Amino acid sequence: MQVEACGLFLDYSKNRINAHTLSLLFTLAREAKLSERTTAMFEGERINTTEQRAVLHTALRRPSGEVLMVDGRNVIDDITEVRERCARFAEAVRSGEWRGHDGRAITDVVNIGIGGSDLGPAMVCEALKSFAHPRLRLHFVSNVDGIELEALLRELDAGTSLFIIASKTFTTQETLTNAQRARRWLLKHSADETAIARHFVAVSTNAGAVARFGIDPANMFGFWDWVGGRYSLWSAIGLSIVLQIGATRFDALLAGAHAMDTHFRSAAFEHNLPVIMALIGIWNVDFLDASSQLIAPYHQHLHRLPAFLQQLDMESNGKSVRLDGSALTCHSSPAIWGELGINGQHAYFQMLHQGTQCVPIDFIGVMEGCASLAHPRRIAFANMVAQAEALMCGKTAAEVEAEMRATGMDEARIQALIPHRVFAGNRPSNMLLLERLDPFTLGALIALYEHRTFVQGVVWGVNSFDQWGVELGKQLAARVLDDLLSPADLHAHDASTTALIARYRRAAAQ
Ligand code: F6P
Repeated sequence: MQVEACGLFLDYSKNRINAHTLSLLFTLAREAKLSERTTAMFEGERINTTEQRAVLHTALRRPSGEVLMVDGRNVIDDITEVRERCARFAEAVRSGEWRGHDGRAITDVVNIGIGGSDLGPAMVCEALKSFAHPRLRLHFVSNVDGIELEALLRELDAGTSLFIIASKTFTTQETLTNAQRARRWLLKHSADETAIARHFVAVSTNAGAVARFGIDPANMFGFWDWVGGRYSLWSAIGLSIVLQIGATRFDALLAGAHAMDTHFRSAAFEHNLPVIMALIGIWNVDFLDASSQLIAPYHQHLHRLPAFLQQLDMESNGKSVRLDGSALTCHSSPAIWGELGINGQHAYFQMLHQGTQCVPIDFIGVMEGCASLAHPRRIAFANMVAQAEALMCGKTAAEVEAEMRATGMDEARIQALIPHRVFAGNRPSNMLLLERLDPFTLGALIALYEHRTFVQGVVWGVNSFDQWGVELGKQLAARVLDDLLSPADLHAHDASTTALIARYRRAAAQ
């Protein structure tokens, strides 16, 4: 049970499946019309029905010169035009030709954004650190509480800093609050407003709001409503990535994703990486009752991957109604969580081995470097493989007993300890190995997970491309903010919320 494509190798033999289970799951995918839905997505049909939008992040990685007509326009031409503008701008910053208001080259780039306008670029910049431009330091700010931004601004030099305000809608409270704060800081450290044009650029679909914020339209890089936030790192939202690794390597990232797109569209289900991973995920969630899925990368530079996948999967498939509005009768997206596997081993892996719940794991390793006997990565690799083996094979009471007896332990203590030291095993995991951590392979890895999410959404019959579930909290936050600021009660709240607002007001009055 192994499959390989685009520099990625998957061993899925440690799952609780056999060939029959898989063939039934493939039938399930066929019954859900997976191939037809895949074609509909790639061809630009409005499959995001609740927002009446096409879903075309895959078009962003198609080679220029191709044709894909959406609403009478060849979107590949539009994509190429923005991609080339991003490349020219990034080259000017990287070469030092683009200068700050006092004539110095840029040294620090700050991406202000949140959700899809932060997690993807931040994860990729971290993953591809080895390819970073030697002069440019990349920073990502998302939290609105000011702590992150204030600490960063204390370190920065206004004359050599560039801010990218990344927001699809350009209405997101957290991003606009941080952007305003950064703008005030820049103006405090520069002679006049003309400095804004040298130090602020925007990435958005909302040209009007960008202009109202005071960013020169010449410094805006656009994209389109058919790019979902969590699928947007391939668009101009990836500007920070282009700045860090350069346009040629960004093209390699796109090429890796495109190679995975081609594999996904053309390989038979039996050899199809995203299809196999998606169906095993469905098996774990809906048949083995797994309510979460752990992502455990074993390469330091992949430490932001779990956070990125959390949004990708949970914002896409965290739904309980089908496309037609009827209620789902099975579970959809599990909770996605994780961090570096090697750290997890000394923290929560106890629960994975001996807890009461089944938590499927994606172990993710990088082969390059491991092959050298002298390299410490060999130790990380050994740990990753050993964890998967331990989780699957476990340890029987007889083995535990023999082990303790060999140490000369007295009989009563052996019998008391046996149940505590037994490992039930049979805990499922995937082993995903990247040949190397370079732009091409990373692009393929991200696209693999995007399509895994898509396939699961198709089988569950949900709309993976809207996110109405984030709206209510945003609306209520605006009302609560009003009430925190006003001495009178402007809005009705439940008793608990009213008491919390009152507590805040008392603290603010002291
Ligand atoms: O609140 C959720 C969300 O809309 C995500 O879907 C999106 O990635 C994020 O907020 C940021 O949105 P924007 O890019 O419009 O600022």
